Order: sequence, then C-alpha cells, then structure tokens
Amino acid sequence: MQHFLSINDLTPAQILALIELGKKMKHDYAPYSQALAGKSVVTLFEKPSLRTRVSFDIGINKLGGHSLYLDQQNGALGERETVQDFALNLSRWCDAIVARVFSHTTLEQLQKYATVPVVNSLSDLYHPCQGMADFMTLAEHHNDLSQVALGYVGDGNNVTHSLMIAAAKLGAKMVVVCPAGHFPDGHVVQQCQQLAQQHGGELVLSSDVSALEGVDCLYADTWVSMGDSTPLGQVKATFMPYQINQALLDLTGAKHVLHCQPAHRGYEISSEVMDGPSSLIFDQAENRMHIQNAILYTLLKD
Ligand code: CP
Ligand code: NVA
Repeated sequence: MQHFLSINDLTPAQILALIELGKKMKHDYAPYSQALAGKSVVTLFEKPSLRTRVSFDIGINKLGGHSLYLDQQNGALGERETVQDFALNLSRWCDAIVARVFSHTTLEQLQKYATVPVVNSLSDLYHPCQGMADFMTLAEHHNDLSQVALGYVGDGNNVTHSLMIAAAKLGAKMVVVCPAGHFPDGHVVQQCQQLAQQHGGELVLSSDVSALEGVDCLYADTWVSMGDSTPLGQVKATFMPYQINQALLDLTGAKHVLHCQPAHRGYEISSEVMDGPSSLIFDQAENRMHIQNAILYTLLKD
C-alpha cells in the first residue's frame, strides 16, 4: 500500500486486515502510541469538515505523530502554484499528505508528484476513509461481512461509490435506491457490477424503496453534496420519498442505520431514527478515527 485514493486500491484481504487493525487500535492504543513518533502528516482541505479534520488530528496524536492543518487561505489548490510544486514542496517536510479536494484529478496530481503517501479524505468521486469506517462499523455487528446486505438510499455520490466498491470487493450485497437522475456514476456502477461478480457480491439499483426490503442496514447521506450550490429545499420534493424514517425501517426490517454526516435532520433522515436504537451513526463517526489510524499506520510503518 503506497497511497490510498480509493478502496479500489485495496485487495479484499487488505480491506479486512485494515478493519481488524482499526478494531484492535480502538480496543487499546497502548501498543501504537509511538507508531508515528517523529512523523508529520499534512491534512489539507479545499472544503469544510468537522469529522475528518478532527479525527485525523486527534488520531495522529494518539499514534504519537504530529499533524498540520492547511486550509485554503491561499485559494484552491493549483491557483497560487501548481499542484505539482505543492506536492514536491510538501514532500520535503512531511511524511504523508491527507487531502480533501473538489476534483479527484487534484488527488491524482498530488499522488503523481508527491514522494510521500497521499490519502483521499474526500473528492467528488470517492470518500474511501468513510467507506472503510462504515464497513468497520458493520463488522462490529456482523462476523462475516460477505453476508451483509447494505441499503443506500438517496443521492448517488462519492460516499455511495466508496461503499459500492467495498461491498463488491467483500462479496456483500448492496442495494442502491435513488430517484431518477440521481444514480451513482455509470462507470463506477459498471466496475462494481464486475467486482461483485468476481467476489460473489451483488449490486442492485432501483428507484423503488421496496427494493430495500430485507437489508440489514440502511444508509443515508446528504441530498446535496459539497460543491453543489443547489438549495436543499429545492430538491426536497424529489428526495422526500427516500427519507430514512421509522416507516422505512418498518418496511425494510433493517436493524441498523448509518449516516456519514453532516446530517440534515428532517431531510434525508428523521431525528427519531437518528437518535433511535437502530442508529450506529455516532459509532460510525468514532470509527473514522480508528480506521484512518490503521490506514496511516499501514502506509507509514516501513
Ligand atoms: N463524514 C465526513 O467526512 O464529515 P466531515 O465533512 O465533517 O469531515
Ligand atoms: N457526499 C457528501 C459527503 C460529506 C461527508 C459530500 O460530498 O458533501
């Protein structure tokens, strides 16, 4: 493992090993408390963040490392100087670069020119740290992830893509239910169909919430992602039938609910469900830190 831009960079065995390591760290950080001693990680953000910024910063501290936050005070990456020069400079000081960017191609440029590992902490195409935290959370409730059926409902986006790749590689079932015009990217769908076939998984796409009947877990994300200026109120009528609420839990029989957050209560998820007994949402947020620590440890250990 040299970089982590997509879950596609990992084999199924690597995904499972990272989840096991994340669980081990969560249980006890003592054996890892100096794992990143003397190492510095730059975390840079072109977009806002709560969970990602805080979980990387505090997580790196738990491993004995140092993290440096770079916001976009100098404008978007590539404006003041090229992404190439940015990567070449940062590589002279730090040991890894964690980046949240508008365009996935910025990450590919960073990866091309950096001489240190690059980690994707969200792009327009993928949110792989999120997808890994989500499957770690599912692994806390299921011994065999290949037996899990995950139902994603809402807007097909970066988070959906990472979940679909992880599910397909792990041989799990994933049902993606979106209103017409809001399905995940066609190329990613095609790739995941092939991966699912190869690994014994299943990917189902539908606009009908009844396709979610029988899933173990329902998953929501925002209806409007960062970088899209459409007001949430404007898409409400289209997406409201896809809200995760008690009626959808009853219809599907799902035991658990996940949401990557930030959540818009009363839109993609009801408060009743978010705060209810099915919600694993705050475990999921906590697990971002543990899985990211497993990823950084694995990238930097040699
Ligand atoms: N889930 C997630 O990435 O949250 P933030 O945007 O707050 O980092
Ligand atoms: N799909 C969302 C995820 C936020 C963590 C976005 O890109 O804004």
